[in-house]
Amino acid sequence: MSGNEKLYLRQNIQVEPLIDSWYAWSHLIPPATASRNITERHLKIMDSYIGAPQVHANAVKNPKMAGGPFIDHGGKKVDEIRALRDHIKMERKHLIEFSQAIGDLDSMLRDSAKGHSLQPLYAKVPDILRGYVELVYDLNNHPSFRLIEPLLYRSKYYDRSQQSLMLSVISQDDRPFVLSTPRLECDSSLHLKLAFDDKVIDELFRLKSIARPWFEIKEMLRIPGSKENLMRSFLTSEPPPPYAAYNGSGVRWRYFGHACILIESQGISMLFDPVLSYTYETGISRYTYTDLPDQIDYVLITHNHQDHVLFETLLQIRHKVKNIVVPRCGGGHLQDPSLKLLLQNCGFKNVIEISELEEIHDGNTRITGLPFLGEHADLDIMSKMAWLVRIEQHALLFAADSCNIETRLYEYLHDYVGDVHAVFLGMECDGAPLSWLYGPLVTQRMERAMDESRRLSGCNYDQALNIVSLFNCKEAYVYAMGQEPWLNHIMSIKYTDQSRPIVESNRLVEACRQRGIIAERLFGEKEILLELPGVSDFGKIESALSAITS
Ligand SMILES: [Fe+2]
Ligand SMILES: [Fe+2]
Repeated sequence: MSGNEKLYLRQNIQVEPLIDSWYAWSHLIPPATASRNITERHLKIMDSYIGAPQVHANAVKNPKMAGGPFIDHGGKKVDEIRALRDHIKMERKHLIEFSQAIGDLDSMLRDSAKGHSLQPLYAKVPDILRGYVELVYDLNNHPSFRLIEPLLYRSKYYDRSQQSLMLSVISQDDRPFVLSTPRLECDSSLHLKLAFDDKVIDELFRLKSIARPWFEIKEMLRIPGSKENLMRSFLTSEPPPPYAAYNGSGVRWRYFGHACILIESQGISMLFDPVLSYTYETGISRYTYTDLPDQIDYVLITHNHQDHVLFETLLQIRHKVKNIVVPRCGGGHLQDPSLKLLLQNCGFKNVIEISELEEIHDGNTRITGLPFLGEHADLDIMSKMAWLVRIEQHALLFAADSCNIETRLYEYLHDYVGDVHAVFLGMECDGAPLSWLYGPLVTQRMERAMDESRRLSGCNYDQALNIVSLFNCKEAYVYAMGQEPWLNHIMSIKYTDQSRPIVESNRLVEACRQRGIIAERLFGEKEILLELPGVSDFGKIESALSAITS
């Protein structure tokens, strides 16, 4: 083996971003929100596993328990999980105290803030929170607090040494559900202690398309001698297939699975909610990392759920991303951390934050942020946006999990933006209850019926058809259903033909087709080319001109 041989990173190397061995999703990065997940999710799950590992092993096998708080390590990793728990308890003491202080602050406000001035209560704020919170009432005298989030990222509560990457080979879709199962070390994995904003991460992923000599690679990644053979096995001298950009005169969109769609038109590329599969032999055809252009002009995030803002994919494409567009957050709520701060602290440049009805103009392309209702268990969360993309006369609406709980909104939006050629809409109308995602942030016991009634649900048949009709859509695509098996590690969805989201979306597709609207529930991969009326007219003029001159 020559040290000068130029090598690429193989396309089937899985790279998991980790925080203290837990899969890094977007609630594990903002310090306050992360602290609550450590105490109320991770430590509780690990304690439970240590006490009854077999219960976890059995629950994981039961499809009805999918996505539940169970560790998927076959009940055989008690020592490793105990060591991890003890490490976190020892090393993250300050974050554990921070989380407890949030609980104490909430209960102090419930007991003491009765509508009178909050000023005297600052003295009662737990010491470690003082200076990081402002106490506030809503107009109904309900007390709450807002976090000064930018300051927290500059404090000891944001600790980059918790962050790392785990490299291993992936050859099939099935992966443990990552919200409940920490990643353990093993001989076939390479654990790189790299913080997410480290520029070496971009160099690592550039290796997928640009080869470098082995001696440079091992030096760059500081590979220990004992892991050199393993790292070498993750590399190949075989170049990836070249990417063929779309150079046609219209618009090409490609569905990569779930809510991930790439649009290319007139030299501009846009990638929505990047969640990508690695490249390996499989029975389900799909686009993967090798189907991305060298530069992505705009990455657009619809909302802060783990299946729409996926660090594993985002870090791998960061070096290609010119701009990343996110919805503006409400400001300082535990449940609504700033996506802008989060991405900036993870090394993203050019993060553009957009409010409702704000626009980006680039050449003939206009991107407008449209309000996104619901799907967040009625919590005050602003970090959610449907994206309307207009290229020439074409309008495409990426509504993700927006739920049409108030049809009047869409009437007003139609008045404002006009007809939409194609809509992309999620129909996960049986969403998880509040506690599934936000439970760790709630500091007061919640009645079960209350929790069950407040769900992360998208549109049902009536709500979806209403949107398609109001915007006079010519095409309607149901997407973001979590059906692709390469999403198993972040989704917990196992549908049957009787599942409501399947029944309701089948009805929508049928109803649309009866009305002459092209409709489909997307799965796996799809490519559509749209002619631009203006451009094809131009094309006709051009060919008429050439006919005259010849
Ligand atoms: Fe969602
Ligand atoms: Fe979703």
